[in-house]
Amino acid sequence: MRRLLPALTILLALAGTMAGTMASAGPIRRDPAIEASIGRLLARMTLQEKIGQLNLPSHVFPRDGQLEEVRQGRIGGVLNVAHPDHIREFAAAARGSRLGIPLLFGLDAIYAFRIAFPPPLAWAATWRPSLAEAAAEAIAGEAAAIGINWTFAPMVDVSRDPRWGRVIEGAGEDAVLGAAFAAARVRGYRKGGLATSVKHFVGYGAPEGGREYNGAEISTAELYDRYLPPFRAAIEAGSETVMASFNTINGVPVTANRALITNLLKRDLGFDGAVTSDFVAVGELVNHGVAVDLSEAARKAFLAGVDLDMESRAYDIHLGSELAAGHVSRAAIDDAVRRVLRIKFRLGLFDKTPANFAALPLAVSEVGVRATAREVARESFVLLKNEHAALPIVPGYLSVALIGAAAQSTNDHSWYGPAGQTKPETETLLEALRKRIGPRQSLDYVSGFADPCGKAFADKDAAIAASLEADLTVLIVSEDCDASGEGVSRTDLALTGVQQELLEALAATGRRIVLVVETGRPLVLTAAAKLVGAVLIAWHPGTEGRTALAEALVGEVNPSGKLPMTFPRAIGQIPLAYNGLPTSRPWNGQRFTTGYIDEDPTPLYPFGHGLSYTEFGYSDLQLVSNRVSRNGTLEASVTVTNTGRRDGSEVVQLYTRQLVASRSRPVRELKAFQKINLQPGEARTVRFRLPARDLGFHDDAGRLIIEPGPFKLFAGGSSAADLWVPFTLVAD
Ligand code: NOJ
Repeated sequence: MRRLLPALTILLALAGTMAGTMASAGPIRRDPAIEASIGRLLARMTLQEKIGQLNLPSHVFPRDGQLEEVRQGRIGGVLNVAHPDHIREFAAAARGSRLGIPLLFGLDAIYAFRIAFPPPLAWAATWRPSLAEAAAEAIAGEAAAIGINWTFAPMVDVSRDPRWGRVIEGAGEDAVLGAAFAAARVRGYRKGGLATSVKHFVGYGAPEGGREYNGAEISTAELYDRYLPPFRAAIEAGSETVMASFNTINGVPVTANRALITNLLKRDLGFDGAVTSDFVAVGELVNHGVAVDLSEAARKAFLAGVDLDMESRAYDIHLGSELAAGHVSRAAIDDAVRRVLRIKFRLGLFDKTPANFAALPLAVSEVGVRATAREVARESFVLLKNEHAALPIVPGYLSVALIGAAAQSTNDHSWYGPAGQTKPETETLLEALRKRIGPRQSLDYVSGFADPCGKAFADKDAAIAASLEADLTVLIVSEDCDASGEGVSRTDLALTGVQQELLEALAATGRRIVLVVETGRPLVLTAAAKLVGAVLIAWHPGTEGRTALAEALVGEVNPSGKLPMTFPRAIGQIPLAYNGLPTSRPWNGQRFTTGYIDEDPTPLYPFGHGLSYTEFGYSDLQLVSNRVSRNGTLEASVTVTNTGRRDGSEVVQLYTRQLVASRSRPVRELKAFQKINLQPGEARTVRFRLPARDLGFHDDAGRLIIEPGPFKLFAGGSSAADLWVPFTLVAD
């Protein structure tokens, strides 16, 4: 206890500093006092010290050489330092440098630091941005406690391609949902004490073929309508940095793309923070074939507007000679350094000493972080199917068979954590379910698989035997444990390993089965879903997630998540999203209409879909006026009634379709949403106000057009909502 007290005092002091420096929300604006401090500092800096601020290497072992470079002022920030002692060593070295400029400590504290949360795709499935804000704040609080000051998050890449493994880090396929979560995440990380790096600017989520790092072809109109809104929202919310993406957009790598970084981001969007490259991305311009060597790569990236060189050492080695050769200007170097120093001043780093950092993130209330993690998990589960109320596990099921090695797994699929600490206690699904099964019920567990991700069988026959004996079989499957995140594109999205085979063997018994799926992306569940009564998507639920999952299975928690991404029927449909354009030949099941000859072109489960243990009815969709002017606001209301027998939460979704315009417009576009809770029999009128500006779209020059014309407004519980009213957008 005596040892904890100083840490706690430090933490409270730190929290005070954070509140002073981090609380201001809103985009980075030039603060005259900060600009003056930067000016004074710049005037004292040598060229090497300036270039040093732009150098962002990853932590190496042993770190003696790096510490010396820090003392020489040749490093502006370090990433991947996750041990409090190491942070203190680096911070002390920076303090000992000639000008004592503090370091940025960057880490991918994205959905976990110590306590693992479900991944951001699951946060989006809650359709509650305030929960994402709380989650980000909690994670940031843990990381900031040991001195980390910068997270490489939020990842806000809109993607309609689940073959791409990084969909797990984003908010799915929609720009409006994505923007809401982008802003919430920035607010949360900042409240928790971290600067943010919204990434990956821009279009990284559209790699051709879903293949990681592959280039994307994106028209200007699409770039503005589909990919840019979450970045705008994150910048508006105050993201201090932006990370440039690895890939090419329309043939030019973003890292060397002046049109995107300098013109669009810094000039048009007015972004005054710093742009960082991705990991070794400056050096990799050589692999892209746009630079002959590292020095040309440094020049191209710098001229494009990349301020921080992550891990390539290209600026460190070559920027000085590029300046001497007249390829880059001193003013441009000063501007980049200003941007980096602006973050450091804004974060209040100059006021902190290495001793400000706590030794352990445990100093942050673990109870509170766990409670938030549990809440996020609870609201993220998506019930895709529930025939004949197969779920929840009611007392009427006298015997339940739980099958799947994932039921005994504590794997949380998170990225980094604090070094040198033990994994936090994590309840397994089996343990959590055992506690919740009724006194007159039996629970029989068989792993079925040799590993949590079902790569091989363990005791297949025992699983079948258990299922034969049970009133209900709960089979838990998991996407291959290595299949989520960066560098894990897939060409097949069926259940991995032998999981489908076991499911088929169980289904052959004719007993009632429910399927629980842990995954970081939409899967193709067409073959699996038809064999079971219910499908519950649990994502990768994190430290508290298996407990929350047990709560949902027994009905203590009523699922209320909705899909942030379409679940396709077949891999060949991808890319598939709810907001495609109409075609000349709407699909009607016949040849010569838009479809496939071997598969229904509709999704298996559409964007926005998600069931509950209760039911909701929609009625009385009304508009205050069915005409809205270009500078007006559309006011709509819809009545939602809980027509079932228990309380539940519903995400009320509003979509529009512009029927006639100068460009073909999507068949549906999400415009607004609200999550509400209703008691059985309760009805509520939900009101929306939609500025006409939100009905606009961009042209090929990136201009916003708010074009008069006829619209339909849809309201409902998914993108397939069929309740609609007409309205007209008029010129004035
Ligand atoms: C590469 C990833 O693309 C990026 O998202 C991440 O922040 C960096 N590595 C640093 O770990």
